[in-house]
Amino acid sequence: MHKATDVRLGRIVRLLMGNATVVVSGTKIAEEIGTSRSEVWRLIQQLRGLGVDVAGHPATGYQLRAVPDLLLPEMLAPSLKGTIFGGGPAGPRLINHYYKVGSTNSEAMRSAAEGAPEGSVFLAEEQLTGRGRGAHTWHSARSSGIYCSVILRPVMPPSDALIFSLAAGLAVRAAVAEITPQLVVDLKWPNDLLIGNKKFCGILTEMNAEATRVRYLVVGIGINVNQSKFPVELREIATSLKIATGTEWSRVELCAALLKSLDREYRILVEDASARNAILRRFEEASSSVRGRKVTIEENSDLAGVTEGLDERGFLRVRTAEGLRTILSGTVRVV
Ligand code: BTN
Repeated sequence: MHKATDVRLGRIVRLLMGNATVVVSGTKIAEEIGTSRSEVWRLIQQLRGLGVDVAGHPATGYQLRAVPDLLLPEMLAPSLKGTIFGGGPAGPRLINHYYKVGSTNSEAMRSAAEGAPEGSVFLAEEQLTGRGRGAHTWHSARSSGIYCSVILRPVMPPSDALIFSLAAGLAVRAAVAEITPQLVVDLKWPNDLLIGNKKFCGILTEMNAEATRVRYLVVGIGINVNQSKFPVELREIATSLKIATGTEWSRVELCAALLKSLDREYRILVEDASARNAILRRFEEASSSVRGRKVTIEENSDLAGVTEGLDERGFLRVRTAEGLRTILSGTVRVV
């Protein structure tokens, strides 16, 4: 099993960032994080292993050469004040970071089963077995994408869970619009985000439920941020924000925007009974394919027809030669 990153690494990075123009002695760092100088040296070596550019050694002290774009809890927590994701008294302790992990969704599901609270976040620099919907995998190269899973514990029946997935798609769209407002992002039911017909984000929502009550939901979000290229089998269908815009983006900034936006959507959904309709309407407005488009639905008897919007729970309606069908799952292809 992979271990979560030592939270002291983030504290050292913040300390060095706060003193960017000076060399910080090992003694000062040791005092600040409550450990020994030799332990500080060991932690600095770990940071270097993560790709953080730290100059110096125990005799001289340490200095950051560049601000690292790592999704460390201490880097994200200051932006998340007031949200369910690390903004409460538990602070950054709700955020779990992994240098390498099988799948953040698997970690989140396991932790939720052990009682981890709502708002727990699982982030990885790299996933070895990133999972997609159906039997798909999720390409999760090191430190170029955002691989993020959150635990939610809404009080509701399992039949209502889809709306949370749709809301998560809207949250990603809003977060991307915050950092790059000109970019046109399309939503494809139920959970894909596209730029110019190529996918840059996928969402995998998993749950554990009784017949009438959800115990917990795990919403797993994969965003291609700074990938410059993809394996040949994905090249025609995948893109990243960097490929689409020609610019590198701060994953820390985007991830903070994403968690804030998820928090907003989630609160509205659990606090306001009329919010569901608003989510359905906003999803329809943001999707070019959910209404009036000829589609086939793969992995679902290869059904074909014209989309007619979403029903009240968020399922896709398709008018086929045999009549109106409600699609519960499958991959939509616009034809
Ligand atoms: C899909 O489009 O099929 C869904 C992809 C979901 C990928 C994310 S990455 C973070 C989380 N952990 C996983 O193993 N999967 C989700």
